[in-house]
Amino acid sequence: MKKIDRPTVQKILAAADIVEVVSDFVTLRRRGANYIGLCPFHNERTPSFSVSKSKGICKCFSCGKGGSPVNFLMELENMTYQEALRYLAKKYNIEIQEHEMTEAERIEQTERESMLAVNQMAMEHFSQNLYDMADGRNIGMAYFRERGISDEMVKRFKLGYALETNDDLYSAALSKGFKEEFLIKTGLCNRNERGKIYDRFRGRVIYPVFSISGKVVAFGGRTLRSDKTMAKYVNSPESLIYSKRRELYGLSNAKQAIVRADRCILVEGYMDVISMHQSGVENVVASSGTSLTSEQVRLIHRFTDNITVIYDADPAGIKASLRSIDMLLLEGMKVKVLSLPQGEDPDSYAQSHSASEVEEYLNTNEIDFIRFKVNTLLKGAENDPLKRAGVINDIVKSISLVSDPVERNVYITECSQLLNVDDKVVSLQVNKLGQEHALRLRREEQVANGMEQIERDEKTAPATENLQQTESTQATNPVIPEMPLNNQAAAEQKDAGFLQPFERELIRLVLKYGMVKLADQIDEQNNTSWPVTVYEYINDELTEDNITFTNAIYKLAMNEVGSLFSNNWTEDKNARQTQIATEIEIERQRGIEKIRKEATNLGMIEAQEKELALQLNQRIAEKETEFAVNYVERILASSPNDQLRRLTTDLVSDRYVLSKVHTKYSKVATELDRLNEIVPRAIYELKAAIIDCEINSIRARIKADTDIEHIASLMAQINELNAIKREFARYLGERIIFPR
Ligand code: UTP
Ligand code: MN
Repeated sequence: MKKIDRPTVQKILAAADIVEVVSDFVTLRRRGANYIGLCPFHNERTPSFSVSKSKGICKCFSCGKGGSPVNFLMELENMTYQEALRYLAKKYNIEIQEHEMTEAERIEQTERESMLAVNQMAMEHFSQNLYDMADGRNIGMAYFRERGISDEMVKRFKLGYALETNDDLYSAALSKGFKEEFLIKTGLCNRNERGKIYDRFRGRVIYPVFSISGKVVAFGGRTLRSDKTMAKYVNSPESLIYSKRRELYGLSNAKQAIVRADRCILVEGYMDVISMHQSGVENVVASSGTSLTSEQVRLIHRFTDNITVIYDADPAGIKASLRSIDMLLLEGMKVKVLSLPQGEDPDSYAQSHSASEVEEYLNTNEIDFIRFKVNTLLKGAENDPLKRAGVINDIVKSISLVSDPVERNVYITECSQLLNVDDKVVSLQVNKLGQEHALRLRREEQVANGMEQIERDEKTAPATENLQQTESTQATNPVIPEMPLNNQAAAEQKDAGFLQPFERELIRLVLKYGMVKLADQIDEQNNTSWPVTVYEYINDELTEDNITFTNAIYKLAMNEVGSLFSNNWTEDKNARQTQIATEIEIERQRGIEKIRKEATNLGMIEAQEKELALQLNQRIAEKETEFAVNYVERILASSPNDQLRRLTTDLVSDRYVLSKVHTKYSKVATELDRLNEIVPRAIYELKAAIIDCEINSIRARIKADTDIEHIASLMAQINELNAIKREFARYLGERIIFPR
């Protein structure tokens, strides 16, 4: 998958309407200027999820989650940035202009894809073994048969078999052209101390683990021996594509059933999931033997609020479910617990009962967590007052984790009835713990915010230094960056002074004219064009060559304008356009009335109305331009950040100096009129300066060198850099189609 190019990204971001995007997942109601709904990130009954159409963001005032449409999708749907963009592009029918990824991005992308491809191949290979190889049929398939697993389930869960040999998968993979590298990275193969490569899964039945979107990210392999020294299960290691705490076995097969039943059933193992499916209960997932993580709960929570934890009636099983309960409550889930008859697990129960019996058992034996805790914790100690107090405290603690007040009250009542204590006492205790809990959360948040503040201060502090240094030491020492067009090297050498006047000119243009339409960019292939603002143009030019400002405050300003551009600009511009259109329309009506009243003949009316229309259209254009010109400076000049505010006011006030000059020669176009020449030139000058730095450094090396051949090659480099400079000039000239 290629990366999406910047103009398209901007187009997508501009098109994405936060209200529309969120509405696909959350039912929103209008409240004042905003919209409000139940937060999709946590469980709640009173809506605290607020969506601001004008700001283009959403935020939950309770759990703090939210953000731009892209953020929202990334968090809610576990999408990557690129996936979120593609989702939006599809939603808004925006055609994606593909562009080549950077090397690093390509490598990471390819690595993920390669690993997934290797896993897919391995899954097919294991499955083929099961059907076509003697051992696969006689051992693997025979085992599944013996466990009562139907062919249909073997297919549905893509079960397989790994042969006993050391390199069955390894050699099959190599012969199919897969690289060793990815066999190792996925953990399908290992290299021993002697450098020999062997398969991780040998002589085991295989359970592929699927991500929520159905990709094979890992495998579990169960041994068929009763040898106790052998690990019962061997699993894929953590990798770029697999994080155990973020996956739930069976979720990709269960998610629709979970939504339909509005409930998720949690079991322990692979076999439990499969047998339950076979008996028709499909809303089942497994935590795969480890204790449930909050990441896993959030995955479930995307589909339902309700969870039933099924546990084995042995002490280990009880302990595990007790552990999960508080975490589930804290994540806002409504928790029920189901215990199976002694000696049974979901697998054995589903195998030995009919589908309707399983269903019936589930429905009649689920109990809520309070009853479960009372049953298990108080067992045999009903008359021990100390023990009873301990149990009450334990339950009260769990209840205090429930954030919904209505639900909390239900639990308080139940607790007081079951344990025969005054509900006021329970309630008091729950509230006290709840307050302590809230206080702790707030403190943690404060600490976290404090840290952030400190980090921010640290980040911006050197910027002041930089700014002051620029003013005084400009251009004294030429910079010597390592590579052309990567001015990071220059920044690191703390000698960015040479580049700063050029950077300053660019950021000035961004602050003064950022949202002004500079030109139309054309796409020759598709014969389309779209308007490009000064900010976009500059930003594209810089990102394309991997240039960021060496001056931290300029960089910050650039980012600020960027977020204005993608979050606010379109919306604000449209609003202003409507306003202007309305104002002008009123003038038009008045004008027409006046003309008709005063005119003496039809020809005159026609001529005057034509004239009026021309005038008013020009007024519209002027007003729109005025709005665009003032937009960035108006906002940044009142930025809460001192440095940004100062920079903006400093740079923007230049204009008055300039326009004074201009008024002297009335024929000289204003800067605004010449942007299409000024902006490309400013970019070219910065790029040329970066190259000059490099050339200077090569010259210095030539001076210090005595080896003729060396010198010749260095000279050749200089020629090459000069050629690049010329190329830039040409390129910049070509890319712009001047609007006038
Ligand atoms: P179980 O021991 O209950 O296994 O472990 P199971 O899935 O029910 O297997 P059968 O019924 O004996 O065939 C529950 C889960 O814990 C993980 C596996 O995900 C298993 O499904 N587990 C268990 C491991 O990862 N490694 C182990 O050694 C044991
Ligand atoms: Mn089992």
